[in-house]
Amino acid sequence: MSKGWNGRPPAGRIAYVDGRYVPHGRAGVHVEDRGLQLGDAVYEVFGVSGGQLMDESEHLDRLERSLREIEIALPMRRAALQLVLRELVRRNAVKDGLLYLQISRGVARRDHPIPKVAPRPGLILTVRSVPPGEFEKRRRDGVTVITRLDERWGRRDIKTVQLLPNLLAKTAARRAGAYEAWLVDQEGLVTEGSSTNAWIVDGQGNLRTRPLSTAILPGVTRRVILEAAAEAQLPVVEVPFSPGEIRTAREAFISSATGVMPVTQVDGRPVGEGKPGPVTRRVQELYALTSAGRAAKSGT
Ligand code: PDD
Repeated sequence: MSKGWNGRPPAGRIAYVDGRYVPHGRAGVHVEDRGLQLGDAVYEVFGVSGGQLMDESEHLDRLERSLREIEIALPMRRAALQLVLRELVRRNAVKDGLLYLQISRGVARRDHPIPKVAPRPGLILTVRSVPPGEFEKRRRDGVTVITRLDERWGRRDIKTVQLLPNLLAKTAARRAGAYEAWLVDQEGLVTEGSSTNAWIVDGQGNLRTRPLSTAILPGVTRRVILEAAAEAQLPVVEVPFSPGEIRTAREAFISSATGVMPVTQVDGRPVGEGKPGPVTRRVQELYALTSAGRAAKSGT
């Protein structure tokens, strides 16, 4: 049971599965769950900071959109789900960490077509503490990245649990001594990271990231950064960039529910001066301020 937890089994942790709070070690799903058998499921990852869910309504909006796109109903009303999310954070006494939510189409005899009569969707929630410092060092000192062919399917705007190409890319990065893999499409343009959105500060000083389309996940952190940057009047362009343009970029960074992390090297070459730059630092500040402001307003 402790395998994969670095020798620290999740004692005392509580998961939420299909309407019940259960000890993490005993939580499970049915063998015929379509999420397990067919990857017929979507997910969300929420950051938890100071015991509050970060960017909660934006994550719930994206979840509802993902579900709509693959015709799965939200298993409970949004307001009820919000209460359960918050209760799970409370029961696990998580101050800083990550909350994972998966919704599958549910249990049905294995067959490819979407069942004519919809089964009850499955809901899994787990939350874990992230020790302070685990991401802090990366946010401060930055991370390194490799580039790699984007081998994913064509609807990357839907946040599905089908993460095999993503995990293979991430593994290739880690084996190369890097933190993240930036995925490059057939046209030779960066789509995004294996679990993050990709940004540069280009040669002209513009904050630059790929525009929304079916090629990338509409990152919640990306959206919050874009809004905050516009308000702070930072020059922003939503235009894809190539690995060649990374070489002339001044700075680079990645964004996700785990925060904004400077990128100091791509494929072994330093980006700009090879250290976190001033625009990235400003974006980190703006993101922290915007998210904290929203959490206070939503009263979580
Ligand atoms: N990943 N792109 C991809 C492919 C992602 O999987 C993620 C999130 C992002 C950033 O989105 P957001 O800012 O909403 O977290 C971009 C999560 C953290 C994960 O899979 O663990």
